[in-house]
Amino acid sequence: MKKRLLVTGGAGFLGNHLLRRATQFISAGTLHHTPSISLPGVTFHVCDLQNPEGVQVLLDRVQPDVIIHTACSEQGKGIEGIVPAAGLLALQSVERDIRFIHLSTDQVFDGTSAPYFEASPTNPINPYGDAKAQAEKLICSLNPQATIIRTSLLYDLRTPDRQTTRLIESTQTGELYRLFVDELRCPIWVENFAEVLLEVATKDIPGILHLAGPESLNRWELGMGLLRHFGVTQTLNIQKGTIEESGLFRPKNLTMDSSRSERLLKIPRVSLQEARKMTVSSES
Ligand SMILES: NC(=O)c1ccc[n+]([C@@H]2O[C@H](COP(=O)([O-])OP(=O)(O)OC[C@H]3O[C@@H](n4cnc5c(N)ncnc54)[C@H](OP(=O)(O)O)[C@@H]3O)[C@@H](O)[C@H]2O)c1
Repeated sequence: MKKRLLVTGGAGFLGNHLLRRATQFISAGTLHHTPSISLPGVTFHVCDLQNPEGVQVLLDRVQPDVIIHTACSEQGKGIEGIVPAAGLLALQSVERDIRFIHLSTDQVFDGTSAPYFEASPTNPINPYGDAKAQAEKLICSLNPQATIIRTSLLYDLRTPDRQTTRLIESTQTGELYRLFVDELRCPIWVENFAEVLLEVATKDIPGILHLAGPESLNRWELGMGLLRHFGVTQTLNIQKGTIEESGLFRPKNLTMDSSRSERLLKIPRVSLQEARKMTVSSES
């Protein structure tokens, strides 16, 4: 029998990708400010995940076997909801015996001592990373069976994601756009990530799991790869820069070690180049 999956943040970037591919489940998604959305075979429920009664009603209606909690990112007021929503869902998932998968970030680290393993000490240096680190601790204390997935930048190769859209737009506006060569991340293709996450949803993997892309790229390398993929010519206003010169306080090297997920999961994580090939061949 198909299991019941609830994806929070069903209108969000990752949530929507998950719901489109979760055909092995009976799927439901949550919406917050998005008034409505339609996806074949998916039911949507409006819910503020910071509201305890709202969360109870949601879970009574959906009766999920698994929750993948993607809602509450660094966008808009999402940060405010990170800790309360994580706490409510962690508690409810224990009480109702629901498998709980929470999305966290590489930004729980400060970027000074990469590569980062699951057991590496966290030391966030921005409010988003701080809220996610607090949420992780709360979940571990309330529901030790929960899976906490730490990932890196998610990129899309069919429709440019938010950051790639800004980069592409800058080739038309001519606005100075600096891509840091000293900021390293392990970006992962959102379609690949969604597939691997759905595999996680079929397994019991308690604790923290690093699930990021298989290569460490700097912002310049990633930006250039994505511009090439979308057939956009680089313009002179897009320049190499460094965090140092910018005066910004950002984590520099957030390279993650994802070997635990490699051992536990079957679906491979693919590089930017492999993802580009897969996208092109699926479209031709
Ligand atoms: N995107 C990345 O590169 C990246 C990297 C590392 C980790 N992550 C993590 O992965 C997850 C998914 O990221 P994403 O980029 O897909 O996020 P996103 O596109 O910004 O979507 C987040 C969703 O959260 C919902 N939301 C916000 N506050 C809520 C609340 N109080 N109650 C219910 N729903 C609420 C919003 O719903 P409405 O739109 O309906 O208002 C929104 O659709 C997040 O947890 C993020 O921190 C993302």
